[in-house]
Amino acid sequence: MKFEIPFNKPSIVGSELIYVGQAVANGHSSGDGPFTRRVEVFLESSFGAKRVMLTTSCTASLEMAAMLCDLGPGDEAILPSYTFVSTANAVVLRGAKPVFVDVRPDTLNIDERLIEAAVTPRTRAIFPVHYAGVGCEMDAIMAIAERHNLMVIEDAAQGVFAKYKDRWLGTIGHLGCYSFHETKNFSCGEGGALVVNDPRLEKRAEVLRQKGTNRSQFLRGQTDKYTWVDIGSSYAPSDMLAAFLLGQLENMEKITARRMALYELYASQLSPLAEHGLIGLPSVPSHCATNHHMFYILVADIGVRSALIEHLRQAGILAVFHYVPLHSSPFAASLGAAPTNLPVTDEMSARLLRLPMFFDLRDREVAEITHCIKAFYDWRNSGPASGADGS
Ligand SMILES: Cc1ncc(COP(=O)(O)O)c(C=O)c1O
Repeated sequence: MKFEIPFNKPSIVGSELIYVGQAVANGHSSGDGPFTRRVEVFLESSFGAKRVMLTTSCTASLEMAAMLCDLGPGDEAILPSYTFVSTANAVVLRGAKPVFVDVRPDTLNIDERLIEAAVTPRTRAIFPVHYAGVGCEMDAIMAIAERHNLMVIEDAAQGVFAKYKDRWLGTIGHLGCYSFHETKNFSCGEGGALVVNDPRLEKRAEVLRQKGTNRSQFLRGQTDKYTWVDIGSSYAPSDMLAAFLLGQLENMEKITARRMALYELYASQLSPLAEHGLIGLPSVPSHCATNHHMFYILVADIGVRSALIEHLRQAGILAVFHYVPLHSSPFAASLGAAPTNLPVTDEMSARLLRLPMFFDLRDREVAEITHCIKAFYDWRNSGPASGADGS
């Protein structure tokens, strides 16, 4: 079915196509060409990051991070169940066990107050996931990691250009992982980056990224041969993708300003429903600066959500939910990683509904979407029709 208002749509905002043409004309369209380095330098200088390596996806960055932490059989890593599968797969691919912790009801980020109770002598790492581009409580998480000598890998797939207490997400833990997938604020279709904040990990990260070889050192003239030195895989994207991404990143502020305007439009138009307790709206702690990656609402329960999705679908609007919590998946059960006591995750994952959010979304389309949601709740101009709020 083709939706009049899709959930997401890729956009061209600057010099993306010109740069792709240049990448081809340069005669270097494979990985680690001139555009790759320009993107890495751009991210390093924008975020004050020590070292950024462009990758094929955030999934790839998470896999590299798990290798860099030397996770292996018998080890455990702490993460939220309310996340994309890639966070957990990175752990499981190393033969280690994911240990799921519940999320906070306000931000849907891992609840830092529950992490320490999940630490065991086998714990090696914590993977905080910055949901919707809102920072996890990184001060508390870093303090726990320090007390127990753990690695911290920020899953900042959704958190590029967002801040926690004046620090860019992805630059606070030992490693940070970004996504430039089509659905993210800045995109090249499929892409990612690994932010290496701990300089001890930099040399090995280069090797893992280049199929387990010392190719990066060789290209810099630091070694006279190029050979197999470690495990690794193919994690460097084509320079054509880097070229497209540079065109997007150069417009980071423009893209973020537009998303912020859309977010505020949604929030103001839906606030009457929230004030009457019909829906919940996202909340951002005052010490976090969001990148406005996502706009979601929280409805009463899964039944209301299914009915609202159908109501929007009939009007040609695609709204989606995620995630099915990982601890309730068949694969988690087969790993023996399926705790039953994650009440906030269970509740919120059943109530959350994401609304369309992309650079080219028009104000009038937001008005159409919010009008449709109000009609669902039988909302009149001045307030709820009788019975709409349970009265
Ligand atoms: C929290 C989180 N982690 C990881 C990923 C994977 O990102 P990618 O598609 O770049 O591999 C996503 C993608 O949506 C995500 O939301």
